Amino acid sequence: MIDPTIPSPDDAALWYADRLYLADQRILPERAEFLSYDQAADVAEAIHAMVVRGAPAIGVAAAYGVVLAARAAYAAAGANWKDAIEADLQRLAASRPTAVNLFWAIRRMRTLIERLDRADPTPALLNEAQAIHEADRAANRRLGDLGAALITEPTDIITHCNAGAIATGGYGTALGVVRSAFAAGKIRRVFADETRPWMQGARLTAWELMHDGIPVTLQADGAAASLMAAGTVGWVIVGSDRIAANGDVANKIGTYGLAVMARYHGIKVMVAAPTSTVDMDVATGADIPIEERDAEELLSCGGRRLAPMGCAARNPVFDVTPAALVDAIVTERGVVLEPTPDKMRVLMA
Ligand code: MRU
Repeated sequence: MIDPTIPSPDDAALWYADRLYLADQRILPERAEFLSYDQAADVAEAIHAMVVRGAPAIGVAAAYGVVLAARAAYAAAGANWKDAIEADLQRLAASRPTAVNLFWAIRRMRTLIERLDRADPTPALLNEAQAIHEADRAANRRLGDLGAALITEPTDIITHCNAGAIATGGYGTALGVVRSAFAAGKIRRVFADETRPWMQGARLTAWELMHDGIPVTLQADGAAASLMAAGTVGWVIVGSDRIAANGDVANKIGTYGLAVMARYHGIKVMVAAPTSTVDMDVATGADIPIEERDAEELLSCGGRRLAPMGCAARNPVFDVTPAALVDAIVTERGVVLEPTPDKMRVLMA
């Protein structure tokens, strides 16, 4: 049994004693605390508020949220639980718009819901949520090794945001590649962009890599170009929130700029993501909904107001990198080099 009060960088979500525990990623690494949930609506709010973040971890949390929804629906409506669960499923789906893993996980839970009878659905749905969680962890191990195999010689790499263990079911996507590549002696140093405004790079990527003894240097987002010009960086390695059918990649705001700069400097771009992040229903990146968050997140930092009162601000939190700027999409099913619609179709067939 894992004691949810003991923090570990490997666990964004835990199911323990009939409740969901989420590591509060808003306050890491200053404080390591798990918050506990027994209502789906609260899980939806936790996703919206960034208690849990990172596309695969959002999907895992939502799957457990469906378990909580089903338990409450059965307690309230007995055999009619399928009608009673609907509002909670919609709340979960409305929590954040860009990471497709959220909708993928809810759809997978819905598929099981359709097959269940009128008896208590909780054990079967819990089993499915745990399977989603475990499969994500296994996928990351596999894609981590596949991504590492693309790195031919020891190099520095740049990563953006946090696509680590805490953003997934475990091990990480971009940081999964980093973990596997570092173990194989292929990474000299990771340069982690701090990732304004939520600072996932400074708070989470730096913490995870230091925990694992992987050399990491934090840099301001604007420092990436001059580092690339210095010539030690071989790869930019990032995760993704949604990959379109043509290989366009939505990821944390700033990824597109990194990819443009990488191409100019002859540096390769690797996108590491499980196939649950691929959305074959959106033809191109232009169809991916990009979340805009409260401008206040940008106007202030660490609770201190930065910009003058009345200052306008825009806060899109993801951008789309065109497939033409991506050298490799690495999934647990295999690697797509220089993605095209045909190659993506073969991957997902
Ligand atoms: O806003 P966030 O912190 O949820 O954004 C996370 C990212 O952009 C990650 O790079 C992406 O979800 C991949 S996580 C394996």
